[in-house]
Amino acid sequence: MRRQQLDIQLKTPEQIDRMRAAGLVVADALARMRAAIAPGVSTADLDAIAAETIRDAGAVPSFKGYHGYPATICSSVNEQVVHAIPAAGQVLRDGDVISVDCGAVLDGWHGDAAFTAPVGEVRPELLRMITVAQDALWAGIAAAARGAVSGRGRLTDISYAVERAIRAGGRYGIVEGYGGHGIGTEMHQDPHVLNYGRPGKGPRLVPGMALAIEPMITEGSARTDELADGWTVVTRDGSMAVHVEHSMALLPDGVWVLTEPDGGRSRLGDLVTARQPANSRR
Ligand code: MF3
Ligand code: CO
Repeated sequence: MRRQQLDIQLKTPEQIDRMRAAGLVVADALARMRAAIAPGVSTADLDAIAAETIRDAGAVPSFKGYHGYPATICSSVNEQVVHAIPAAGQVLRDGDVISVDCGAVLDGWHGDAAFTAPVGEVRPELLRMITVAQDALWAGIAAAARGAVSGRGRLTDISYAVERAIRAGGRYGIVEGYGGHGIGTEMHQDPHVLNYGRPGKGPRLVPGMALAIEPMITEGSARTDELADGWTVVTRDGSMAVHVEHSMALLPDGVWVLTEPDGGRSRLGDLVTARQPANSRR
């Protein structure tokens, strides 16, 4: 059996500090967009907020121009799963759920993260689905941290932890064909990180790895289609979808969730590296 040759870029602690700076720009953009989400707001309005936040920080939107992508964010509403292009005519309505994905590059280093939020009042099942996706994201990050610190972790331990958390949360479709990825001096690097699978396979989890983890789940079938715009991914059955993402880096003593202001401390406690100051809450 031949092993797949992967080109995994390992980062020094100093390079991870620079990725942290990029991650905080993304976190700031996401926080500002989250605060603006309300019925009547358009996805183009959110895109403008992100563009301004990133520019004011001296960074550059990484999605814009990526294989010709025309915007700063992906704003995927309801049955849209990922990669939906913001539009002035796409106005949020009470009861929608919106996934906002944003990336920025600062001094050559990338950050990439996404959240899903309700618009106004939504069905409780949808709030629950958002929570399950978030829990799965944090379970994947925790698995990565444990694997790096023990020295015995492998890449698909993350995939397994994500899948397990989703299945523990309920009957959801786990989207195939899209997943997480290495991140660093490019937005997308090796390795690809599936959101499902058996543990103990793939490259070892080692300090210096930086990965974006991004569970995508649906209320119905996992099947998706890409629309004629060449970007928007929708559920084939029209069911609602959720997408959340963080960029994180592995250090010898734990993980650093680069796109979370507290570095992951409130969710992960001691699994977070001491490089993230314990009293830093930003
Ligand atoms: N965050 C997305 C990902 O991780 C990137 C969006 S694709 C783009 O794959 F084209 F919009 F950049
Ligand atoms: Co990503």
